[in-house]
Amino acid sequence: MSEVARIILDGVEYELPVITGSENEKAIDISKLRGMSGYITLDPGFKNTGSTKSAITFLDGEKGILRYRGYPIEQLAEKASFIEVAYLLIYGELPNKTELDYFTNSVSNHTLVHEDMKRFFAAYPNNAHPMGMLSAMIASLSTFYPESQNPNRPFKDIELTMHRVIAKLPTLAAQAYKFSMGHPIMYPNNDLNYTENFLNMMFALPTDDYEIDPVVEDALNKLLILHADHEQNCSAATVRIVGSSQANLYSAISAGIAALWGPLHGGANQAVIEMLQMIKDDGSDLQKWVDKAKDKQDSFRLMGFGHRVYKNFDPRAKIIKKAADDVLDKLGIDDPVLDLAKQLEKVALQDEYFIERGLYPNVDFYSGIIYRALGIPTEMFTVMFAIGRLPGWIAQWKEMVENSEPIGRPRQVYVGATERNYKPLDER
Ligand code: ACO
Repeated sequence: MSEVARIILDGVEYELPVITGSENEKAIDISKLRGMSGYITLDPGFKNTGSTKSAITFLDGEKGILRYRGYPIEQLAEKASFIEVAYLLIYGELPNKTELDYFTNSVSNHTLVHEDMKRFFAAYPNNAHPMGMLSAMIASLSTFYPESQNPNRPFKDIELTMHRVIAKLPTLAAQAYKFSMGHPIMYPNNDLNYTENFLNMMFALPTDDYEIDPVVEDALNKLLILHADHEQNCSAATVRIVGSSQANLYSAISAGIAALWGPLHGGANQAVIEMLQMIKDDGSDLQKWVDKAKDKQDSFRLMGFGHRVYKNFDPRAKIIKKAADDVLDKLGIDDPVLDLAKQLEKVALQDEYFIERGLYPNVDFYSGIIYRALGIPTEMFTVMFAIGRLPGWIAQWKEMVENSEPIGRPRQVYVGATERNYKPLDER
């Protein structure tokens, strides 16, 4: 007999099915509980709630394991290209040569964005945050491809939308940067691979030759792979929930970008560098800032520390820390902020408060240091995260569509006023 959970409510016992995942993860299926008993479950922040069954990414926060479609992140970061990983996440298997050529060519063929979109950029203030622009631009793509608004299209058409968004996000990201600099935009060059093309659009100028440093390209490839998916995180859950209303893919990705922007999620990479800079400018008294982070009356938190699911270590942070050392070494950069980050990590990891709560550096603690070394400005860090996370968002959206998941609509426990009668103004 399959495993069940028993719950007693108002003296009545109910049996709930237990679901076991392929890595032996256990869940109690409460989807019929309200119908049976009138009770719902309450779990703010979904700390203990699974929203879906998913075959994309497995992570074990206690053991520090992260795998995309079964492949360990360490192997992918070491050996794969980002575009291969994107294919793996979206289609479920590593591509063979023909499949990789098809995917790469299709993405390369859709890198241009409509010329009219330049007018949107022109309307923004020149200090506009690129994440705000990017979210709006991606949502706007749905208006240039109105057919994308029909959710019931053949797979070939949906696939084209997926390829278009992968192709156009780096173009729009680089354009946002160029506009903020007042530089002419660089059009995509389809002879370059995905990461080379992005670097070229960011850093080339019509007046100068720009040579792509293989160290820079390699580091970027690794960073994008490490960010490519992370199961039901805040932005992926947002993409799935927006998509569950049958809103088009561009809108769902735009919402994912908005969710990622927050400093408790992807925006942490910008916040970490700003924090390290502030600590440095303040005299580098690390204990003072660690104490502030521990003080419950103080809103300061150590950015880049802590994670909802990793309570031991974040395997991505381990790879990134080493990559940061390698990149700075190869590029001959001596960044005092990296030294400060290492010292801060040391102080925090010896502190009882951080040990007790399982607070370790997360993926964002060291990624900003590499982005700085690659010449990427601080405000673009979260944009880089978005480019990396895009295949994950698409894979999550596709899985949700293929599973015909119902519209995402949580319930609540109402704690407001009970019924009362309206009073005219002069009686209040
Ligand atoms: N500095 C100081 N204390 C912290 C920190 C931190 N960075 N993170 C968590 N804590 C403390 C909390 O105050 C809480 O203490 P308490 O038990 O005494 O109340 C305890 O650790 C648990 O923290 P929660 O906020 O309940 O954990 P949650 O899972 O809700 O939050 C989060 C996780 C948002 C990542 C949090 O650790 C945080 O704010 N970190 C800093 C921001 C950051 O780096 N975000 C990037 C995450 S990675 C990513 O999204 C890609």
